[in-house]
Amino acid sequence: MIIQLLQNAEQVDLAGAELIKSTVRFKPNAVLGLATGGTPVGIYKHLVQDAKQGLIHFKQVTTFNLDEYVGLPSDHPESYRAYMEKHLFAHVDIPAEQVNIPDGMATDLQAECDRYNRLLAQVGQIDLQILGLGHNGHIGFNEPASSLTSETHIVELKEETRQANARFFASIDEVPTHALTMGVGSILKAKTILLVVKGADKADIVHRALTGPITTDCPASLLQLHPHVIVLLDAAAGRKFA
Ligand code: GLP
Repeated sequence: MIIQLLQNAEQVDLAGAELIKSTVRFKPNAVLGLATGGTPVGIYKHLVQDAKQGLIHFKQVTTFNLDEYVGLPSDHPESYRAYMEKHLFAHVDIPAEQVNIPDGMATDLQAECDRYNRLLAQVGQIDLQILGLGHNGHIGFNEPASSLTSETHIVELKEETRQANARFFASIDEVPTHALTMGVGSILKAKTILLVVKGADKADIVHRALTGPITTDCPASLLQLHPHVIVLLDAAAGRKFA
């Protein structure tokens, strides 16, 4: 595991965008695993700027998003589909058919998970999986539990996760109670994992995840088992590593 302690969030965004750019330069048909949430917004901003200058092309790239809320239509501004359109896809040359996001509006959610798993199996391996970190150690929407699920599945969100994400909604009541998420097994299959963590409020959990016991109580701790993880921390999140 490579842990890079950077000065500030801007440095983290630049470094994250650089890694994605070099991945796509070396392998134009790379498969990228994408995350949502507040953390990667700056990285996507740099990618959009670079794409506009012709420094990165997404024509042959395939993407798989980690997760999606259940019950938010794709045009709901807080759906992860809308987030991805707003922050990345609408501004780069990726063909729509190469974008994959679980459909949280599917009438048969289990069938939707199975479909997503089949698509993941078809590509074989994600080249670079971008991850944020939840305050309770979740990755994607894999919440702390006594056991974890390997593949894409339906998950009931923890109250603390709904609270944390309520800042994006008018009120907590509007935050969905369930989501579809890639499983920890699918995440760990990626060739390289880029974990991005910012802010003082994540200093304890990122330290526990990367140096504490490997336990399903902290899903991100399973990243310790992966042979190729790059972690980007701003000074505030990396306080305990300094
Ligand atoms: C959300 C997402 C995760 C994200 C995490 C942290 O609930 N499902 O993919 O990494 O929580 O979010 P943020 O970056 O906004 O702190």
